[in-house]
Amino acid sequence: MNLKGINLFTPGQIGPSTLKNRIAMSAMTRCRAGVNNIPQDMNVTYYSQRASAGLIVTEATQVSPQGIGYMGTPGIHTPDQAQGWKGVTDAVHEKGGIIFVQLFHCGRISHPLLQEKGELPVAPSAVKPEGEVYTPEGKLPFETPRALETEEVPEIVNQFRTAANFAKEAEFDGVEIHAANGYLPHQFLEDGTNQRTDHYGGTIENRARFLLEIVEAVTGVWEGNRVGIHLSPSNPFNSIHDSNPEDLYTYLTNELNRFNLAYLHTVEIDLSDPGSYEMANYNAALNHITYELRKIFIGPYITNGGYDLETGSAVLDAGDADIVSYGRHLLANPDLAERFAGKSPLNSPDPDTFYLGGEQGYIDYPFM
Ligand SMILES: Cc1cc2nc3c(=O)[nH]c(=O)nc-3n(C[C@H](O)[C@H](O)[C@H](O)COP(=O)(O)O)c2cc1C
Repeated sequence: MNLKGINLFTPGQIGPSTLKNRIAMSAMTRCRAGVNNIPQDMNVTYYSQRASAGLIVTEATQVSPQGIGYMGTPGIHTPDQAQGWKGVTDAVHEKGGIIFVQLFHCGRISHPLLQEKGELPVAPSAVKPEGEVYTPEGKLPFETPRALETEEVPEIVNQFRTAANFAKEAEFDGVEIHAANGYLPHQFLEDGTNQRTDHYGGTIENRARFLLEIVEAVTGVWEGNRVGIHLSPSNPFNSIHDSNPEDLYTYLTNELNRFNLAYLHTVEIDLSDPGSYEMANYNAALNHITYELRKIFIGPYITNGGYDLETGSAVLDAGDADIVSYGRHLLANPDLAERFAGKSPLNSPDPDTFYLGGEQGYIDYPFM
């Protein structure tokens, strides 16, 4: 694709939505939803503050009570949650912004203390993640999840369909299916976590089936060009790995092309490695797998991970992406687009308040 003349400040196009610039906000969990996981006033303020980004992708939003992996995260599976989100979408639209909701099911990255009735989290296979999880009783080791029965899998696909319907009610511009960062769709894709012997496990085709069924279900609710997909082929975050990611993601991306999707959004860095996750350690080069996916995917390509003004501009200039998404810079700089345009200094994000709850470190980052 020839992208000459494209830069961060030229308008972009995602399906029917024209973006005022090519600076997107990547999804960021902030653990500040209200009672019953309903978005509340400070969430409205937070997103509306960031509406000068061309595209906002909301924080991961669970498609069912079972999909919850973190305390205080919003859902999109009840009418009240949809109504809460409508407050957010109205405020963003009022400022000319475009907002997609990230549809999320945590799978095994949860804990019985976060689940209704204290049940075990579910997963493709009973493979325990390494590490610990925040629960109402403090940080605890992960437990071995329960492997889903074959006949339960369509019910989870259905959770995504129902959530997609609620997202329409909430008047989002589209939805992003979260198939990255080690959560349930990703757990089905990769053979480190998927050891099933039914038609959802084994071959690449079988492991991709769950995600493709979700895409099919969600594009039955939304036009394909309002459905984005989030992948992280080289990100071992949440102890996930695959023996042959090149073939897996090549197959998957070719299949995704059937749906005329809004965009493919990839994470280029290792989110589990604090070294490569440092703000200072920017990496403009697409990694070798996603570089191939960019070439295969028909439609807009959003790249993410460690970009700043300079490297984000460079990746667009090279034609290696259509849009650049920013996480931490947009967290800390509600007016990031204006700051980039003026080459102005940036606020630094404060990791101590990322998941703290409350307004501090959430809606009090100063504008220029
Ligand atoms: C506080 C925080 C929460 C995050 N939550 C999510 C999430 O809910 N969904 C997701 O796909 N990625 C999540 N991420 C990853 C970011 O979307 C992004 O991939 C990462 O921060 C790298 O981009 P950056 O270098 O521009 O910050 C989160 C990152 C941070 C810092």
